[in-house]
Amino acid sequence: MDRIRIVGGAKLNGTIPISGAKNAALPLMIAALLTEDTLILDNVPRLADVAQLQRILGNHGVDIMSAGKRSGDHQYQGQTLHISAKNIIDTTAPYELVSKMRASFWVIAPLLARMHEAKVSLPGGCAIGTRPVDLLIMALEKLGATIAIDGGYVVASAPGGLRGAEIEFPKVTVSGTHVALMAATLAKGTTIINNAACEPEITDVADCLIKMGAKISGAGTPRIVIEGVDQLHGARHTVLPDRIEAGTYAMAVAMTGGDVQLSGARPELLQSALDVLTEAGATITVNNEGIRVARNGAGINPVTVTTAPFPGFPTDLQAQLMALMTCAKGVSHITETIFENRFMHVQELARFGARIQLDGETATIDGVAKLRGAPVMATDLRASVSLVIAALAAEGETMVNRIYHLDRGFERLEDKLSACGATIERISG
Ligand code: UD1
Repeated sequence: MDRIRIVGGAKLNGTIPISGAKNAALPLMIAALLTEDTLILDNVPRLADVAQLQRILGNHGVDIMSAGKRSGDHQYQGQTLHISAKNIIDTTAPYELVSKMRASFWVIAPLLARMHEAKVSLPGGCAIGTRPVDLLIMALEKLGATIAIDGGYVVASAPGGLRGAEIEFPKVTVSGTHVALMAATLAKGTTIINNAACEPEITDVADCLIKMGAKISGAGTPRIVIEGVDQLHGARHTVLPDRIEAGTYAMAVAMTGGDVQLSGARPELLQSALDVLTEAGATITVNNEGIRVARNGAGINPVTVTTAPFPGFPTDLQAQLMALMTCAKGVSHITETIFENRFMHVQELARFGARIQLDGETATIDGVAKLRGAPVMATDLRASVSLVIAALAAEGETMVNRIYHLDRGFERLEDKLSACGATIERISG
């Protein structure tokens, strides 16, 4: 199994290109199931999760062609996928595939909307809490689907097609909103989604669906209205930049010191994180290229942060912020409100010498002057990258084990960081 070796202490200086957002690319690829025509997606990140979803869609009969690089393309340029779900040959998503990636459960929505049936394995447990699908099932039932749980599978049918309905989510859910939105595009009549997630990835998917002929208004607000249409057609769409990747590298620069241009990053997608970084002592400048992050001289200020749905501070940057705060000049408090048990990184950060106390959903971090490198193990995607951030600033060598989580969500992490002066290498085998 691959590992990453990091020798900490170097400041980061240079440019980091920001890739397309994983959390938009996955639902966009799934949305291709809604039409017989080809959906072309540009700026798709080269990630293990994308490759896994290609396999899952292939199982349903979807053809995916990845266009090659053209001369003059930037080395980090995302790939272009031509996705054709002309013939759906199988409406079952088996356990062996769905259990590897939770988001693949979302295929239930387009399959049900277009084929009027779907049998999708329950995704199962996850390292960051229970992550149920009850609200996704509730939304599909509201749209007229009959749903049974049988042998670990969700068996859904809507023989006469889905019908528009009013859906009220009791809590904000990104997965629930994606599923309701996709399913409603082909339902008969009007659907209203109340308390919808406002995450930029929802808006990106809605923008693509509109290009495909869907009638959607209000995406990006808590009330989305969808007027069902008979069918959708092909379209071309560019995946929006990854705000979590941008925020992660911004935290890394704040941690090590230095000056890095995050090219292609869009500040409005991560304003809450940029505000926290400014409070922590980083200098953030927005320019034509994206976002520039610098920290020189002064140390890191402690902060008090609570995760919240967009536009609040994202749970997907909580672990990275905690790594940063391990070296703050004082005591920080970080409260996680989205997922229970999303503190798997705490024990590993302690291996660097970090001082963190957990009390329910709040972590209290007492900053130390220096971290020291250690062998550590990653437990989920964002937790893994928080260990990389700690290692970049720690004295001596760190070996990050089990890095397959990093490959799920960060494109060429070690290349991007070493280009900015970090001592980081992948050790295969
Ligand atoms: C998505 C993101 C993930 C991010 C999260 C929150 C993708 C592929 N993943 O995950 O990176 O951390 O949004 O921004 O886009 N819930 C229920 N019942 C349900 C569904 C969700 O109780 O049926 C709960 C969850 O357990 C959690 C909360 O709702 O406590 C939010 O979950 P949700 O927004 O759905 O997260 P995901 O879409 O799984």
